[in-house]
Amino acid sequence: SHLAVFVSGGGSNFKSIHAACQRGQIKGEVALVVSNVPTCGGVLYAQDHDIPTLIYPASKKKSVEGMTADELLSALKHQFEVDFILLAGYLRLIPPEIVRAYNCRILNIHPALLPAFGGKGFYGMRVHEAVVASGARFSGPTVHFVDEEFDRGPILAQRAVPVYPSDTPGDVQARVLRQEHIVYPECVAALCDGRVSWRDDGVPILWDGGK
Ligand code: GRF
Repeated sequence: SHLAVFVSGGGSNFKSIHAACQRGQIKGEVALVVSNVPTCGGVLYAQDHDIPTLIYPASKKKSVEGMTADELLSALKHQFEVDFILLAGYLRLIPPEIVRAYNCRILNIHPALLPAFGGKGFYGMRVHEAVVASGARFSGPTVHFVDEEFDRGPILAQRAVPVYPSDTPGDVQARVLRQEHIVYPECVAALCDGRVSWRDDGVPILWDGGK
């Protein structure tokens, strides 16, 4: 399968997905990286590995004309023949025309157990600060399909990690991130293998291959 990975930051999840493609865990390749931040770690890593990059949307500060959502969609479909879109720390909403065109083919990873601690404003360290402040005993990554709202599409997989009373938000972030790098490649592998099915009420079910 052809994968497009959308990033805004360091891109450690992108790197874990790329590595899983390289070792054959994911039967697919990262055909394209899309970012709103031209100099972020994810973009630089892509450039180092000869993976094409597109900037979307263009920064508002520069008066540079960016590509339109339709142009991006056309590039995804026709130029790069993208089968699945993977959001990996992409801090913008995906344009609705892309969500429609790639219905049930866009995944996101969120660093908390949705539907708690998600939605607009819950990103980066703020998520882990809110988890610690709440006194919750568990956190962990959620991989979910993307709809037109932040962090609200159907949940595909979660991993639970403990939260200890002495934890700082940074401790929780590190513990969750380690699980992100395991669960996201597993989910992408399942998607590429056709091991994701749907319950009648729209809940996706991941078959682990009988492990
Ligand atoms: C991760 O915590 C992910 O769950 C969230 O954004 C962060 C991205 O980190 N959506 P990285 O850029 O993949 O290192």
